[in-house]
Amino acid sequence: MGWRDHHRKSDFPPPKRMTSMPDIHSNDAVMPRPLQASRPKASLYGTVRVPGDKSISHRALMLGALAIGRTEITGLLEGEDVLATAAAMRAVGADIARQADGSWVVHGVGIGGLSEPEGVLDLGNSGTSARLLLGILASHPITAFVTGDGSLRRRPMSRVIEPLSRFGARFVSREGGRLPLAVSGAADSIPVEYTLPVPSAQVKSAVLLAGLNTPGETAVIEPQTTRDHTERMLRHFGATLRIEAVPSGGKRIIVVGQPELVAAPIAVPADISSAAFPLVAGLIVPGSQVTVRGVGLNPSRIGLIDSLREMGADIAYLNERVEGGEPVADLRVRGSELRGADIPPERAPSMIDEYPVLAVAAACARGRTVMRGLAELRVKESDRLTGTAEGLVRCGAAVNVEGDDLIVEGSGTPPQGGVTIATRLDHRMAMAFLVLGLASREPIQVDDARPIATSFPDFEPLMRSLGATFVGA
Ligand code: S3P
Repeated sequence: MGWRDHHRKSDFPPPKRMTSMPDIHSNDAVMPRPLQASRPKASLYGTVRVPGDKSISHRALMLGALAIGRTEITGLLEGEDVLATAAAMRAVGADIARQADGSWVVHGVGIGGLSEPEGVLDLGNSGTSARLLLGILASHPITAFVTGDGSLRRRPMSRVIEPLSRFGARFVSREGGRLPLAVSGAADSIPVEYTLPVPSAQVKSAVLLAGLNTPGETAVIEPQTTRDHTERMLRHFGATLRIEAVPSGGKRIIVVGQPELVAAPIAVPADISSAAFPLVAGLIVPGSQVTVRGVGLNPSRIGLIDSLREMGADIAYLNERVEGGEPVADLRVRGSELRGADIPPERAPSMIDEYPVLAVAAACARGRTVMRGLAELRVKESDRLTGTAEGLVRCGAAVNVEGDDLIVEGSGTPPQGGVTIATRLDHRMAMAFLVLGLASREPIQVDDARPIATSFPDFEPLMRSLGATFVGA
């Protein structure tokens, strides 16, 4: 892709104000909500707390629903994706309620105790909800119908249908293993050993969760490490899990089936994937100082921090501690002169959701940044490899995609901007380009800010509290 061919100077009218907040779940039918970001007059400054970790929040509700007893969850992300998981787990019999103090309480039904849902389970925009739930349903002898929004209906489910069928579950899906689909879980499920063909924590988790209501031992071989929140939380609830090194590389994760999961309290740390946006904003807006409190720093999630540090970012870990079994710290960034870096493919699983905003940082850096091995980015909420490259080119950055690698040639000054970016029902694309709009020479508008509510409902006020200039909400 030649970047100069696509560069447009300024192509949007001022954003229109909307009077009411539309429902994202019916977003195929209602109006999009454009939002524009522009360079603030002053640097960004302040201390914030971003919402709870999305991956951990989903798992807390799901495992709480499969445990016996009362699980209290503090810091749960109340974004649309996690609320979709809560609704689905209620529909299969769990009692889930938000308390007046903001904590959530789950009364589980126990492994094997799920009931057949009466209606269709609509997981909205959330791939994690859909794939992990299918894992749970695969070994319960009930039938369920699962769907999602326009983005989720385009995403591949065959990656979980294939291993879950080996347990004895039956699926009827649309062409290419897409939603909507029907699943009939196995009455007498058979344990499985499965080697992950793609580095996906969702697929790993789906298989481990199916293994819970399966007699014997279920094993997943993971050639490349992916986030291990499922493994940590299974142990937290009392399941027996063994992790062995595999001689050819990677590890074998074995779950012993039909344990009694015992309810246990969960404190959800702040999501590093959400913290990424104010942190990169603080790095690329000169003179800024931004602190994000209580960020989860699970080693399988911190590729962004390693990469930004290699690019010369001033990032400090303050007040390091362990909370709810996960390492946590306050992260402080200061505006930095970034330089290009070579980001190796083996780092991709530890920062898979952070590439759009890393590419934004790279577009403001001096020199070439190569982000290698990004095939999985093509099957996220949108094709983020193409979308990030095309969006940056529209903003005036020099960007190429070569195979599965994303290459950004930074000039040392932020790109021009002055364009509208199509976010294609993808929250992280929307937030990444709004962050770029805080540094680009002209404002950047995203065509639809509504998807941000899936993972980071307070993104706009939180960024404004740091000094960000957004118009159009
Ligand atoms: C997630 C795993 C990742 C990530 C997603 C959350 C999880 O997806 O992109 O946002 O909670 O397990 P993949 O498993 O498709 O890599």
